[in-house]
Amino acid sequence: MSMDFTDQRLSYEKGALDQQSIPTSPFELLKEWMNEALAQKVQEPYAMSLATCGADNKPSVRIVLLREITDNGIIFYTNYESAKGQDIAENPNAEVLFFWHELERQVRISGSIAKIDTAKSAAYFQKRPHDSQVGAWVSQPQSGEVASRDVMEQTFDQLQADYPDNSQVPVPVPAFWGGYEITIEQVEFWQGRANRMHDRIVYTQDSKQNNASWTTKRLLP
Ligand SMILES: Cc1cc2nc3c(=O)[nH]c(=O)nc-3n(C[C@H](O)[C@H](O)[C@H](O)COP(=O)(O)O)c2cc1C
Repeated sequence: MSMDFTDQRLSYEKGALDQQSIPTSPFELLKEWMNEALAQKVQEPYAMSLATCGADNKPSVRIVLLREITDNGIIFYTNYESAKGQDIAENPNAEVLFFWHELERQVRISGSIAKIDTAKSAAYFQKRPHDSQVGAWVSQPQSGEVASRDVMEQTFDQLQADYPDNSQVPVPVPAFWGGYEITIEQVEFWQGRANRMHDRIVYTQDSKQNNASWTTKRLLP
């Protein structure tokens, strides 16, 4: 039996986006919106859907956590040998999406992905809680099949025994795990409005050089 949502609708009335008064850089607006989402207690506003597409031309999407907004892009951490890692090795173009329902906002970022340097990944790995460090080793290869939950738990327990918490033996930083940075090429900010008259402003960088200026356009909703 089908499930019908055609009578479900919401009027979006919480904000507006004015092309004349927004910052000249999308990084500033992204940080403003992120701060507002944090202030409004949006749960994990830094959780983003990451879309990749490998050589098979089949897009895949999953949530990852944004860990840093840098001067040129955004960083997340994952397993380099995962399905997404494979896609990225084959095609560096990616798009991410944030949707903050509480603010009726969507942000869409596209750019090219590259691994960050291993020292930076190691520094973040060492900052993570011990159990998350162990978890990264259990999930290898991430996206590979595992026979059962028991198998995962046995591996977890074994690693906890090999690298007890608060011991002198730190959990080694896995070579298969680390950060990716998406160098931002385009950002679209979407603010829901009444009557489907939503505001959409897209920033595109004028050249690939660092600190290049950005042009904005309003798009039909
Ligand atoms: C809220 C949330 C946060 C997540 N954060 C991450 C993350 O930061 N890194 C990561 O590798 N996977 C994260 N995941 C798991 C991914 O969505 C995904 O299941 C996993 O990375 C495997 O994806 P893949 O098979 O496409 O490589 C998160 C999932 C959720 C729901």
